[in-house]
Amino acid sequence: MNILVTGGAGYIGSHTCLQLLRAGHEIVVVDNLINANEEAVRRVQKLAGKSFPFYQFDLCDGNRLDEVFTHHTFDGVIHFAGLKAVGESVSIPLRYYGNNLNSTITLCRVMARHNVKRLIFSSSATVYQPGSPMPVNEDAALGCTNPYGWTKFMCEQILRDIAAADPTWSVVLLRYFNPIGADESGLIGEDPSGIPNNLMPYITQTALGRLEKFSVFGDDYDTPDGTGVRDYIHVVDLAQGHMDALAYATQHTGSVAINLGTGVGYSVLDIVRAFEKVNDVKVPYQIAPRRPGDVATVYADPRKAKQLLNWQAEKNLEDMCRDSWRWQSMNPKGFAEA
Ligand code: NAD
Ligand code: UD1
Repeated sequence: MNILVTGGAGYIGSHTCLQLLRAGHEIVVVDNLINANEEAVRRVQKLAGKSFPFYQFDLCDGNRLDEVFTHHTFDGVIHFAGLKAVGESVSIPLRYYGNNLNSTITLCRVMARHNVKRLIFSSSATVYQPGSPMPVNEDAALGCTNPYGWTKFMCEQILRDIAAADPTWSVVLLRYFNPIGADESGLIGEDPSGIPNNLMPYITQTALGRLEKFSVFGDDYDTPDGTGVRDYIHVVDLAQGHMDALAYATQHTGSVAINLGTGVGYSVLDIVRAFEKVNDVKVPYQIAPRRPGDVATVYADPRKAKQLLNWQAEKNLEDMCRDSWRWQSMNPKGFAEA
């Protein structure tokens, strides 16, 4: 298939591009590099042994996007582009609503104009109302606690409405849990700019010695060891989920929301111990107060992905810890070094 990948230079996008190319698809990437480095695109091309067109511009620019759709024929779009830092979204909400909603609306307008109506959207477990029963399934109540989450919630609603109004659309809303890990080559991986937001980059940067120690946010939760429990999923498994969603979208119309998680929860200390063991490195930590907004436990009910997509996560925690560390230790400064 010919696939447009928005945000394809980013963490999850770059891994998905690599798998698309390896599976024989043709891709075109649009990314404004607001949170990515063109080196990721070059490395995906190197790993796949195949080049593809890359356009650097803001997806909110409908004219530029229209030109891309005029030059290329697409069978579908995987839409990763978006801003994703929860804390930043609380401080500068307009930037988040502006970027994440406008880019999605502009994309859908241009798609409709060119009669491309197959879309895979990056949503998040963050759309589930805090306090939902675990494991959380796709029918759980929705509701968010921060502007980033609301942008995902609103984009989901917009896409459901588009698919309801025009039954020729096919929309798959993929709700990711906590992606970590990297391609086995160690050549592409997560490269957060500035201070990381998520757990694994803190762990790898501490293991590197760049941070003296990292803080475990709370050890008094109602969990087996008191630290927060999450559903960590290998980014390569996640990328495969997009391929399977694309195949599903060729056979079905309408809209559907699907969790991409493993169904297994690990605590912060489980991750630290597994990381230290599999990589034979020390990760000093201190117990710190709970992070505002955090909940004790989040993990997926992944059965719908198995039923509809025949997808399930294949990689385990050791794979995730080993591959995260290989990427970080081979690229201590991320893509900037190149
Ligand atoms: P990322 O920041 O690495 O990738 C997003 C990419 O989109 C970046 O390369 C960025 O430069 C690009 N981008 C942003 N706004 C753009 C715009 N207006 N025009 C063109 N390009 C733009 O993030 P990621 O971790 O790869 O996440 C991909 C998607 O998955 C995002 O939508 C994110 O919200 C969602 N998601 C991520 C996680 C996670 O933990 N990583 C979890 C759930 C959902
Ligand atoms: C975060 C986002 C959420 C997003 C999800 C997946 C917040 C508030 N939420 O959630 O919107 O969908 O990532 O990308 O940012 N932890 C530490 N020390 C650290 C960092 C994290 O102990 O330095 C703990 C957290 O308290 C949590 C776990 O590690 O228990 C995972 O944290 P994180 O990676 O930030 O993901 P989420 O909190 O699940």
